[in-house]
Amino acid sequence: MSESVVQQRHYLKAMGIDLWLERREAQPSTGSSPKDWQNLEQTVSACQRCELHLCRKQTVFGRGTQQARLMLIGEAPGAEEDRQGLPFVGRAGQLLDKIIMGVGLSMEDIYIANILKCRPPNNRDPNAAEVAQCKDYLQQQVDLLQPQLILALGRIAAHNLLNVTTSLSRLRGSAYVFGQTKIPLWVSYHPAYLLRNPADKARAYEDWLKIAQLLK
Ligand code: URA
Repeated sequence: MSESVVQQRHYLKAMGIDLWLERREAQPSTGSSPKDWQNLEQTVSACQRCELHLCRKQTVFGRGTQQARLMLIGEAPGAEEDRQGLPFVGRAGQLLDKIIMGVGLSMEDIYIANILKCRPPNNRDPNAAEVAQCKDYLQQQVDLLQPQLILALGRIAAHNLLNVTTSLSRLRGSAYVFGQTKIPLWVSYHPAYLLRNPADKARAYEDWLKIAQLLK
């Protein structure tokens, strides 16, 4: 085991989240074996499981590095994402890119996906049925990626990933685990929220510095 892995294990253990190394060695835990990336993206692009397929321009699968250590999970595509077919490419995405660079990370470290792969009309919140239909696509992305950490961006992502309804301010700053594979999961503000509430950018920056530190 390399020195950096030993250090990382020590640090994660001190924070009560020493499970990711074991998980990386384990088989994916979903009942169905994951497809490869290309196959999964093709399946998603043809998806008609819920009514959102009727109003989308295209599906929004994910972007970033398929070997990324950090997985960011947002809510659902907006208008620009629907147009380009990529997550977080609108104004919120531009702020997200700045935050990522600001804490010394790069897109090489990151893969970004959403709870939903299709844009809800007028950017309304995803409903429970849509989330349920889309859930295994995200699970398969997680299984393929096997990230070291997941960061839930915003209340909707956090609530759906953790199955809780706790306020975002209370969810921030603690380590949780995602799914049966127990991937460490942290929660921070959605960049669109930060555009509306710039006073909270400093708190978001604290969250991100912690994430960057955990990845070192
Ligand atoms: N907001 C999200 O949650 N996801 C996107 O891809 C864009 C905006």
